[in-house]
Amino acid sequence: MSEASFKPGNTPHSARIYDYFLGGKTNYSVDRKAAAATLAALPDVMTAARQNREFMQRSVRYLARERGMRQFLDIGTGIPTAPNLHQVAQQEQPTARVVYSDNDPIVLAHARALMTSTPEGATDYIEADVRDPEVILEHAGKTLDFAEPVTVSLVALLHFIPDTDEPPALVSRLLRDLAPGSALVLTHGTADLEVRDESGSVHDVERVYRDRGIFLTVRPREAVAGFFRHLDLVEPGIVASCDWHPEIAAPDEPPALPGTVSPAETSVWAGVGIKP
Ligand SMILES: C[S@@+](CC[C@H](N)C(=O)[O-])C[C@H]1O[C@@H](n2cnc3c(N)ncnc32)[C@H](O)[C@@H]1O
Repeated sequence: MSEASFKPGNTPHSARIYDYFLGGKTNYSVDRKAAAATLAALPDVMTAARQNREFMQRSVRYLARERGMRQFLDIGTGIPTAPNLHQVAQQEQPTARVVYSDNDPIVLAHARALMTSTPEGATDYIEADVRDPEVILEHAGKTLDFAEPVTVSLVALLHFIPDTDEPPALVSRLLRDLAPGSALVLTHGTADLEVRDESGSVHDVERVYRDRGIFLTVRPREAVAGFFRHLDLVEPGIVASCDWHPEIAAPDEPPALPGTVSPAETSVWAGVGIKP
């Protein structure tokens, strides 16, 4: 599908609402109205979105830099927002190979911004639903070598998947056949980090999204920890996105100033696990 042929329709989409929170331009009036209602429900949501994105970048940089990771499967990619995952990975490992996947047609419409690999690396894209892991894995196998470690990235995705679709089983299937040394990078919305006596709750955000036809459910730390069972958690474990190695930075950038964002502003648990 070309960008020109994309029709936004009358319903907001999670990818476009998130794009708005990140300061992007790939969103429409219907998305901005949903974003405004979300902001009213949770005033820190833009900080939360940006912290989530920065965690993705730091965790990918860590895996590529410290563990030599050269293969990534990013599901629930979102609308391209530089630096995208492959740009971070290939800055550390120019031969890195990255497969992106999302089920929103607008992400496909903009996917050429993801096809900007280094000559020695590779990127690919598949439009697919995370609830079809076999489809995603089969396609990814054209670009990735599953005999070598692969990082599966599920960042700000699984809170869109209801319990009836068994998110833990989806994660297990995605990781089942991966080589030792493979990794899971994950964030997930939660109410655990909220400061109770302050206004705004992610439960109100759940209602805003659901009223507009987008299923959203936040989960407690225990459920998020379940996604990492059978994996070795990288220190500091499952923490607020702002607290996961804030010192990691691009070679040409200073690290984030410590203490400028509090866990209560982030609304997501974040973690990295390694397959033994
Ligand atoms: C909040 S965005 C996160 C984007 C990116 N991972 C990040 O954290 O910066 C969530 C993305 O998940 C995608 N998504 C939602 N449900 C999905 C599903 N069932 N299968 C695949 N992707 C899905 C949305 O289209 C959207 O692009």
